[in-house]
Amino acid sequence: MTIERPATRPANPRFSSGPCAKPPTFELNKLAGAALGRSHRAAIGKDKLKAAIEGTRELLGIPADYRIGIVPASDTGAVEMALWSLLGERKVEMLAWESFGAGWVTDVVKQLKIDAEVKTADYGQIVDLASIDFNNDVVFTWNGTTSGVRVPNGDWIADDRAGLTICDATSAAFAMDLPWDKLDVTTFSWQKVLGGEAAHGMLILSPRAVERLESYTPAWPLPKIFRLTKGGKLIEGIFQGATINTPSMLAVEDYLFALDWARSVGGLQGLIARADANAQAIFEFCDQIDWIDNLAEDPATRSNTSVCLKFTDPRIRDGASFAKAVAKRLEAENVALDIGAYRDAPAGLRIWCGGTVETSDIRTMLPWLKWAFEAEIAAQAEAA
Ligand SMILES: Cc1ncc(COP(=O)(O)O)c(C=O)c1O
Repeated sequence: MTIERPATRPANPRFSSGPCAKPPTFELNKLAGAALGRSHRAAIGKDKLKAAIEGTRELLGIPADYRIGIVPASDTGAVEMALWSLLGERKVEMLAWESFGAGWVTDVVKQLKIDAEVKTADYGQIVDLASIDFNNDVVFTWNGTTSGVRVPNGDWIADDRAGLTICDATSAAFAMDLPWDKLDVTTFSWQKVLGGEAAHGMLILSPRAVERLESYTPAWPLPKIFRLTKGGKLIEGIFQGATINTPSMLAVEDYLFALDWARSVGGLQGLIARADANAQAIFEFCDQIDWIDNLAEDPATRSNTSVCLKFTDPRIRDGASFAKAVAKRLEAENVALDIGAYRDAPAGLRIWCGGTVETSDIRTMLPWLKWAFEAEIAAQAEAA
């Protein structure tokens, strides 16, 4: 039995959750102004690094007294620096509801061996945010990229907290409102919502986080690429573009291009609106169809970037191989690339909806998803 293919394909089939689609206006030659072959410590390099920092501040509305640093090793590097440099002064609560949050739990419990209270929830759910004691440090992921579950807002974070909040916001920054007064450490990487390149992480510190860095020295040694202080004082240069080690000036140029593009679509609110429209198109598709559902159970926690879907049709015999086969069909047709669920997540699909993705491409792709589902159900029946 042949199932008819939809007539049109998305202009851009890239729906990967990282590296994410480049901005729609991206072309390699737009990076021709990169400071290639020049020292990142020369004025030209430092100016570009500074522009990346201040552009981030302007677009994300980060307060003037927060430090923003460009650090090695993408989002992972930024999170690890924060965990290794800040934790251990007091008890910590680790919140995890998917793979990346679980990874930070492993670091804190198994590597740093810190007194931690671990709160976890299954894929699709979120931990009890009302149960958290903000006398402790609290580590959490704003948007769980592998389950598509995000915190609904920052209202659950105490204003008068004694501990620090450390937030991995890599798939949230530039797509969701981040309440800076509630966040002491925030990290993200360029390769996510703005479609930049991997390699560098952004580390954003509140004045309270800086105070902790200057008043507390962890009991364990810190490698050079994690060190944020010298002689008990913050290394201010890191937050003015004097990076710890050599950055890629090509990646910096690419990020500057992405920031410019972000300005052209209305800045943060424009980006949020684009992600919301993309996710909404998928939510509506799921509402109309009875064989697919959002993995996130509570609509208030549904991600507008990494939208995770599960197949619910009772005819499906092997969920994992079915989802893989659907993703493979879409890839073979060049209508949706890299949309299989994350390797540790429940079987299903994950469709990136960040602002660099065009809503018209999501809308054009969805009938293909229907086609691939029906084709796979038919193939399964034929094989039986
Ligand atoms: C929530 C979260 N944290 C951390 C990472 C790791 O990011 P990176 O590869 O930029 O270090 C990812 C990547 O997808 C992520 O989604």
